[in-house]
Amino acid sequence: MSETGAAALKTVLVTGATSGIGEATVRSLRAGGYKVYALGRNVGALDALAADTGALPVVADVCDTDAVLAGLAGADIDVLVNNAGVLPARVPFQELEPAAIDAMLDVNLKAPIQLTRALLPGMISRRRGHLIYIGSSAGQAAFPAMSVYGTGKAGLSMFCDNLRLDLLGTGLRVSEIAPGRVQTKLYRTALDAKGLFEFYDGYRPLTPEDVAAAIAHVIALPAHVDVARLELFPTDQASGGGLMVKDPG
Ligand SMILES: NC(=O)c1ccc[n+]([C@@H]2O[C@H](COP(=O)([O-])OP(=O)(O)OC[C@H]3O[C@@H](n4cnc5c(N)ncnc54)[C@H](OP(=O)(O)O)[C@@H]3O)[C@@H](O)[C@H]2O)c1
Repeated sequence: MSETGAAALKTVLVTGATSGIGEATVRSLRAGGYKVYALGRNVGALDALAADTGALPVVADVCDTDAVLAGLAGADIDVLVNNAGVLPARVPFQELEPAAIDAMLDVNLKAPIQLTRALLPGMISRRRGHLIYIGSSAGQAAFPAMSVYGTGKAGLSMFCDNLRLDLLGTGLRVSEIAPGRVQTKLYRTALDAKGLFEFYDGYRPLTPEDVAAAIAHVIALPAHVDVARLELFPTDQASGGGLMVKDPG
């Protein structure tokens, strides 16, 4: 890290820190010497992570911006890693429960936007900050049974592009990390045990540590380098193409 670059970015907030990519990111950044606020709802998991890594726990629902700010108690955040996300169901849109639609848009899209709005003024006045968003390959291309999840992630991707324009001249960086399949607990309610087995068994998905390493690298680059969008796929995965069914009659 150069002194004029990312070395100035010392304090990080990671949302959704209690499992998967968020937890791995907290561990990686703590090992790299950053001060890390780890945000989540699971107090036991946060306490264990704090004891293990020295991260500072923030117990809050990411949708409750006031609670997040209260948990930070005025700390100056240099890097915001918007990672918390949900995938309550993986079904065709016509079968999706209204509550699942709300959850995916609230947690995956609205919460990071609101948290960004809350933390940006401080970053702008300090002329120091890096906003990181965990998007998804499902926000870059259509996938079956991922309509609202994909819509939220695509919205987040467009938000990043717009934000980058609005922040030109501030010196702040905006990075979207869009992974393909990662082996985490994200699908725990979307797939049953058999579905989960079929989703991961015999494949070589990304690990949370793979994504955490990419995040750490993006942060550590010099301040004049902004990784605008990083698509991170398992080598064995690709997206694109079309689906067609026979005449349903
Ligand atoms: N796994 C993949 O294949 C994949 C691919 C592309 C992108 N992503 C994205 O990666 C990010 C991390 O997901 P993951 O795969 O690591 O899944 P995960 O293991 O399920 O982790 C998600 C984390 O978000 C937290 N979270 C959910 N809702 C929250 C809320 N309202 N307030 C605070 N924390 C909340 C969860 O905590 P609780 O235990 O309290 O719910 C958990 O710590 C998500 O944005 C996801 O969309 C994942």
